[in-house]
Amino acid sequence: MPSEPLWAGRSSKPPAPEAHALGRSLRFDVRLAAYDVEASVAHAGALRDAGIVTADEANRLSAALNEVGDAIADGSFVFDDADEDIHSAIERGVTDRLGDLGAKLHAGRSRNDLVATDVRLWMRATGRRITGLTAMLVRTLIARARENARTVMPGSTHTRPAQPVTLGHHLLAHSWALMRDLQRFDELDARSNVSPLGAGALATSTLGLDPSATAERLGFASAFRNSLDAVSDRDAVQEFLAVTSILATHLSRLGADIARLTDPAIGWAQLDDGYTTGSSMRPQKANPDTAELVRAKAARIGADFTTLMSVLIGLPLGYHRDLQEDKEPLFDAAGTLELTLPAMIGAIETIRFDVEAMRAACEDDGLYATDIAEALVGEGVPFREAHRRTGELLRSLGDRRLKDLSKEEWHSFGLSEGADLLDPERSVAARSGPGGPSPGSVEEQAAAIERSLTERRS
Ligand code: ARG
Repeated sequence: MPSEPLWAGRSSKPPAPEAHALGRSLRFDVRLAAYDVEASVAHAGALRDAGIVTADEANRLSAALNEVGDAIADGSFVFDDADEDIHSAIERGVTDRLGDLGAKLHAGRSRNDLVATDVRLWMRATGRRITGLTAMLVRTLIARARENARTVMPGSTHTRPAQPVTLGHHLLAHSWALMRDLQRFDELDARSNVSPLGAGALATSTLGLDPSATAERLGFASAFRNSLDAVSDRDAVQEFLAVTSILATHLSRLGADIARLTDPAIGWAQLDDGYTTGSSMRPQKANPDTAELVRAKAARIGADFTTLMSVLIGLPLGYHRDLQEDKEPLFDAAGTLELTLPAMIGAIETIRFDVEAMRAACEDDGLYATDIAEALVGEGVPFREAHRRTGELLRSLGDRRLKDLSKEEWHSFGLSEGADLLDPERSVAARSGPGGPSPGSVEEQAAAIERSLTERRS
């Protein structure tokens, strides 16, 4: 016989099957099981401290909760059709084991404060896995950047050649962006380090529970300050999705870069075969599907953010079943990142950079135009005029190249050592200031990023 819903007392009949099917969240919130057990064990402690159950009863409740949690984890737990969600399933499992004692567990709590607590615990654990992977990707990028601190390549704007940079500088640009993502995760973690448990449905309880002791048991920095806020808001989930959207955007741009650099028409890098996919029709193809998928996945993570925001906009204070819709976007965004980050780490670890091809692509007069104009500025020429004169020089070349200019021609242009400027190594080395593309700056940047990674961990 299927058991009744938890709230069956008031209702003249069980829910219509289609209403039950619509409302049932077990399919996705089952992944909160371990956190629901953890929060429930902490709540049993609060009931004991308030004298609602004895110490022995609290122990039996905790043991039964852990049993149910283990059974769910190993797949032996039998879910009932009437279990609406993971919270009711676990409470029912405990009651099946303990009878009347199990029925005491829900005193002073509601699924409203329970689900908010479970989700925060889940976000804490998942956020740490995602930041661990992100830090690993940063370390991978740093290693590849260090190997290529002196590798010159044409840096581009508008995907057109602009000025020489080092590959190390280019790779570290991605690392800095990811470092800000880590910082955002840390800040979000600190802000959502607040326990909602004890808020009840909206107004706490009359039972003398101590939410701050519960918070401490769960490893939260503090308990809620307003019970209505604690059950109504989902800003912590929204912030998690905002931060993951930004991270996913950064990964997308890294994916786009990899797809571009490995384009045979450019030929500056080759993905390892493990990170390419063949074509079903054209035997010669090695497609950058991994990079393309990482590029595309940001779209759905951004949509997850938008989905939750759209649910929350205009919702009056208090719990509404609408809030159940926070979980699928949250799980989807995190699950997607847990797929994309490892793939990106592997792709970057194994990508082969064609240093010669990048060096050869630096044989492009246009790349040195800015160096020439700035050399004129060094001779006292106002920049606007230097810019115009350099542009005219390039235009006047016809079929010739800058390296074909004679000493006299350079001299009459206004630069005695003009030919020396046409060298990518010189060009990047000359940009030796902090944050620039020079090999020294790449080393400095890599060390600075490593320092903040180490500080983060401690
Ligand atoms: N499954 C629900 C959710 O995820 C739990 C809270 C149910 N509360 C309620 N008042 N119906 O939001």
